[in-house]
This record gives sequence, structure tokens and C-alpha cells, in this order.
Amino acid sequence: MIRLRVHPDRAAAVTAVAADIAGLIRDRARAGRRAVLGLATGSTPIPLYAELVRLHREEGLSFRHVTTFNLDEYSGLGPGHDQSYRWFMQRQLFDHVDIPPAETHVPDGLAPDPAAASAAYERAILAAGGIDLQVLGIGRTGHIGFNEPPAGPATRTRQVHLDELTRRDNAAFFGDIAKVPRHAVTMGVGTILDCRRVVLLAWGEGKADIVRRAAEDTPSDDCPASWLQRHPACDFVLDPAAAAKLSPR
Ligand code: F6R
Repeated sequence: MIRLRVHPDRAAAVTAVAADIAGLIRDRARAGRRAVLGLATGSTPIPLYAELVRLHREEGLSFRHVTTFNLDEYSGLGPGHDQSYRWFMQRQLFDHVDIPPAETHVPDGLAPDPAAASAAYERAILAAGGIDLQVLGIGRTGHIGFNEPPAGPATRTRQVHLDELTRRDNAAFFGDIAKVPRHAVTMGVGTILDCRRVVLLAWGEGKADIVRRAAEDTPSDDCPASWLQRHPACDFVLDPAAAAKLSPR
């Protein structure tokens, strides 16, 4: 079931989600357990990571007992490439908090055997006890992670082909569409549905149509995010522009 949470603006939305994550981290730490977070990249979660860094610096939020698993990575990009998602995570979050480096996981875009590396990634998530809270963005194709349509609940971590719309949407970061990789490694829709909680963030009018399809259309592989309707604890955290096409409730 999707709970819709529309905030007055994205700053308010991000503050609420960061406070939620901070509560989870502190609860787990008090119980002597690690919090396992699933993380996304892209432009949407950047202000969330900035707020988590602020909570670390100004309010003593420690990441020593946090383990993270990122959703995806471009195939062919190593951790030193400035468009790799490992690089992004280091710059946006990991370099600024006290998380143990060995507790941060991003799929390996250079793995010689992507199928074996993907299976190992699934095993690592299980060995960590599963993901407590997964942060998601949504692509205009309806992708979550890099699960482009068609993709459904049976999909697990694997190498995928990127949709041309996704490549165009990311071309600005690379400066030239020819430089945008054609493949990526991503957690599957099924991997995401196994997370105990899911929080999907979306801002701006450009996401309004796909947010409506994901939240309201009958779940189908044509809009992988629509399978989140089958998740028992999924929040869509939106600003008013991203929520503008939803039916009145
Ligand atoms: C990123 C990811 C993608 C993005 C989506 C939205 O790790 O998995 O699904 O969340 O493409 O990207 P932005 O936030 O740049 O609009």
C-alpha cells in the first residue's frame, strides 16, 4: 500500500525523511544493532544527503552503526569515474559522516562476471539482515533503481539495458549522450519489494505523470514503480508539483 505524503515544499519533505532515518539509526543503535539503509543516487536525494550530513555535524547523528546498499551502478564505470554512483555517494554522503567504509556497498560496475557479482550482492544484503529502509527516486520511464520497463516483482539484482529516455535524462551529467553507459547493474524490483520500508521521493512537475501512474494504475511491468503498491509499507514523499496529477482523495 502506498501512503502519499505531500509536503509544502521539498525542503520540508527532506527534513521529515531525514528525521525518520535518524530515528531508525538511533533506535537500532540503542538496541545494539546496525541500521541497514538502501540508498539512491540522482538529483532527487541530494538535499536528503545534505540534511543527513547536517544532522551528523550539528546534532551528533552517528553512522558508525549503519550499513548501506546502493541501488545501482553504471556498467563500465569504476569508483574513480566522476559519474559513477560510488563517486557520487562518497561526495554526497560517505566522505562527510563516520560510516565505516567497509559498511558501504555499491554494485561493482567493473565486475568481470556481472551475474556472479549480482548474486553476491543479493547474498550480502541477506547477510546484513535485509534492508530496513530503502530510499528511491523514480525515473520518467517508471523505473526504480534501473529497472526499466518491462520489469516485475520476480527481478533481482542483475545487469540491465538502459532506456534511451533514461540515457537522455542523464546526458547532462555526462556532457554528451554518447558518454552515457548503455548498461547498468541494479537491484531488482523483487529486491526492493523485500525491503522492510520503502520511501520514494519525487519533486517537480516533470515527475507528476509518472508518480500518478505508479500510485494509481494497476501494477504492471510497464511501470515497474507501480509494483510498490504491493509493498506493505511504502511512502511516496512528494512536493506539490510532483503530486499535482494524483486523483483527489
Ligand atoms: C538512482 C536510481 C534512479 C533515479 C531516477 C531518478 O540510483 O536508481 O532510479 O532515482 O532515475 O533520477 P533523478 O533523481 O535524477 O530524477
